Amino acid sequence: MNTTFVIILGMLILSILAPFISLYAVSLIKQQDYKTHIKIQKRLFWTCVVGVLILEIQIRVSGGSGSLVSNSEYTGTAFFKALLTAHIIGAVLTYIVWGIAIFKSNKSWNKLKTLPGSFSLTHKRLGYFTIIGLFYTAITALIVCIFAFFL
Ligand code: HEM
Repeated sequence: MNTTFVIILGMLILSILAPFISLYAVSLIKQQDYKTHIKIQKRLFWTCVVGVLILEIQIRVSGGSGSLVSNSEYTGTAFFKALLTAHIIGAVLTYIVWGIAIFKSNKSWNKLKTLPGSFSLTHKRLGYFTIIGLFYTAITALIVCIFAFFL
């Protein structure tokens, strides 16, 4: 196992775990355990951001987009290119919305120790959008990896 594969496998495992960890943090809201909800959401977000940065650096060092999966016989096909593009677009969109959810909620919480009025609903919508996006990112990442490394 080389460094590149370890980084890809690590990020894949983290991507698959992320939506479940986030859902667990959401389940704590019913018990009014806001403190743990916030702690888990923040740590998960920053862990994933660091993971993506490490993966991105590895992609750049290895020669740019597509270079880590270039050994597979599928990588040149139109299907694989469409799959990789769909994965990247979904993942980027998810991380942008996730970042907005974290920063806006954190700001409101630090100032008011609550999520006031309409922002409470916005927070819920951003939150569930992010979790669906995290499932999408994980599933498409898994399919990309299966085609690139296991078929
Ligand atoms: C610093 C960041 C965060 C803070 C301060 C925060 C805070 C809160 C608070 C106080 C609530 C309960 C009150 C309310 O609904 O108005 C809540 C609910 C919720 N949070 Fe967060 N949260 C944060 C991050 C996140 C993230 C990143 C997600 C999803 C990825 C998320 C998903 C949710 C969801 C879905 C609910 C509603 C649960 C339900 O009632 O169905 N939160 N959050």
